[in-house]
Amino acid sequence: MKIALCGYMGSGKTEVGKLVSKRLQMDFYDLDQTIETAEEKDIFDIFHEKGEIYFRKQESLWLGKLLSSPENCVISLGGGTPCYGDNIHLLKTEGVTLIYLKMDAESLTRRLFKEKETRPMISHYSDKEELEEFVRKHLFERNYYYLQSNIILEVGEKSPENIVEEIATNLRVKS
Ligand code: S3P
Repeated sequence: MKIALCGYMGSGKTEVGKLVSKRLQMDFYDLDQTIETAEEKDIFDIFHEKGEIYFRKQESLWLGKLLSSPENCVISLGGGTPCYGDNIHLLKTEGVTLIYLKMDAESLTRRLFKEKETRPMISHYSDKEELEEFVRKHLFERNYYYLQSNIILEVGEKSPENIVEEIATNLRVKS
């Protein structure tokens, strides 16, 4: 079984993914970190030196590799992963449970404004209202993909530990 966590930037995919993997005693992979290790560069530099199209190709390549490995694992995706190429179809195959960590644009903006410098998609926004406007529209477009998940969890102000509990309960109900 593979568990893949999707959601907008700032929704807590990496932190929750690590905790879920511990709870279920499965290996953990963060797709962005996997790409960074392979490229020996951080995401910001990959975007700036090689461009977004190159990054999206690497993202699809590593997603395919992780999903086709025989081991059980938890994978935290990048915010854009389900929305490019054929990725949503890879994620909707049997043996993969796709979980959407759903958060509203206002809460996401509050989190993202503090840490936007490391994120190439939003690092140029110096005005919080403009960032929120972008997040709102972008989230609306991306929801088409995110909402195809097997499990949709409203994150709200819940702690990562509570979210993990909800994921564990949902997985039990589904199995
Ligand atoms: C992206 C999200 C990032 C990273 C890249 C592009 C996006 O991942 O993959 O900067 O398109 O939303 P996080 O969601 O982990 O920040």
